[in-house]
Amino acid sequence: MSRFYITTAIDYANGDPHVGHAYERFGADAIARWRRLRGDDVHFLVGMDEHGQKVAQAADAEGISPQALTDRIAATFRRTWDRMGISYDQFMRTTDAPHQAGVVALIERIYARNPDDFYEKEYQGWYCVGCELFKTDSEIVDGQCAIHPTRTLEWKTERNWFFRLSRYGEFARRLNSRPGFAEPESRRNEILALIDSGLEDISVTRARLGWGIPWPRPLSTGESQVTWVWFDALPNYLTATGFPDPGFEARWPAQLHVVGKDITRLHCVIWPAMLEAAGLPLPERVWGHGFALFKGAKVSKSSGVAFDLNEAIDRHGPDAFRYFLLREIPWDGDGSYTWERFDERYTADLADAFGNLASRVLAMLARYRDGVVPAAGPTELDAAGDECVARYAEQMDALLLHRAAATAWDLVYAANGYVDRRAPWTQAKAGDQAGLDESLGALARCLIRLSVMTVPFLPAAAAVLWTALGLGVTMPKSGLWPQATAPAAEALKTAKIPPLFPKPEVPSGTAV
Ligand code: MSP
Repeated sequence: MSRFYITTAIDYANGDPHVGHAYERFGADAIARWRRLRGDDVHFLVGMDEHGQKVAQAADAEGISPQALTDRIAATFRRTWDRMGISYDQFMRTTDAPHQAGVVALIERIYARNPDDFYEKEYQGWYCVGCELFKTDSEIVDGQCAIHPTRTLEWKTERNWFFRLSRYGEFARRLNSRPGFAEPESRRNEILALIDSGLEDISVTRARLGWGIPWPRPLSTGESQVTWVWFDALPNYLTATGFPDPGFEARWPAQLHVVGKDITRLHCVIWPAMLEAAGLPLPERVWGHGFALFKGAKVSKSSGVAFDLNEAIDRHGPDAFRYFLLREIPWDGDGSYTWERFDERYTADLADAFGNLASRVLAMLARYRDGVVPAAGPTELDAAGDECVARYAEQMDALLLHRAAATAWDLVYAANGYVDRRAPWTQAKAGDQAGLDESLGALARCLIRLSVMTVPFLPAAAAVLWTALGLGVTMPKSGLWPQATAPAAEALKTAKIPPLFPKPEVPSGTAV
């Protein structure tokens, strides 16, 4: 069994979760579920980024302590992931004591191995609290941060501890040139261009900020500072494995970090450099997904109101929202979402195509064969299934989630076409028992495949279908992929089900 340790970014605990956060969690969850289907030993980490100026300011604005704010917000995030069916194994918070101790241990390990990787320097620059980063001239447009134009940049003059990132330029170039490390390719090219433009040392402590992990060594002036929030946050992936306690190597390194394109460079350059400086193994792969854009624009306070996350989950249920985002927004680029598009996909793909297929096949099995799947040889639908399953596996392994979802629906459409062509009700009427067995057997096998292929995209519906097919009262989480490649349906006792995706009722008085 291969180990598969997958992580997402940890979210800033300064506001409630929005569609962008949900998109990343759904995508990573789909990958985690895919690897479980393949039989991997999956560990899926999510969490909260709770220190730093941004969180401290948000707490100040509410007149509460940062800890009270982050306790509340972390609970909201966790509740939301539970509602959305995110199958995380661990929920990390950077205010947890073991994490704080782990960060200090990592810093000390770097001091011990490369004492001059850290040095003191007086520094001046424009700081964006939204990004928690100093900004270079090219990242400032009209005097504002290009990513957070509504926030005012702060001019900071501080004496800080610095990390000698410039020393790791060649290391970072080699690492990011390795195929399969920084993906998709568009992201890798961005990172390589950034490395080629030269890496500058980075300030890793903050003056006059109480909310953070104390840096273990005072400055020569005697002043104590806290750790810059990214130097505290990135190690969460490592401290979650128990680092520095013995045994952390059983899980570390991560097989995959899933993050957004805005923070890919921190994961592909700074984080590996920190690990290299500490002499620790590097993560195997970083995937920088694109942005979910409401009507083409970045999530903002107003779009959060126009497309509220909870309202979206309630509208057609968590499965439908997950399917919509992962199908509609390419996992390797940006994509737009709207209410209209959500409703269209719900009706066309889920209610009419998939839900209807499941209902009618199960109803025909009940009607013509008392629910028992007849023995019958392979048909053209099995050949279509073989092809779709192979293509889907390749696309999931390449993390092209939107394509894999489309491939599963190719099979849904093939099955609906098969029903229409074979018209089992006509076979029944004509007394063509062998033909009817063949049709129903092929359709049952196809539904088994679909029940497995939809696990990453519609986990709840997949499980309902699994049970209706007579495969078990609960759907096992692990090792189900062989049922997609070679489904065994014969003699299963199936049951009819209510529509998996009911159509919203048309209000009375509305013309249809
Ligand atoms: N706290 C940092 C991450 C530290 S990881 C060691 C952070 N937090 S965040 O809350 O701003 O973003 C969390 C994740 O959500 C990031 O990967 C970010 O790219 C992603 N998204 C935020 N808005 C997004 C969209 N509109 N669309 C898709 N994902 C985006 O950054």
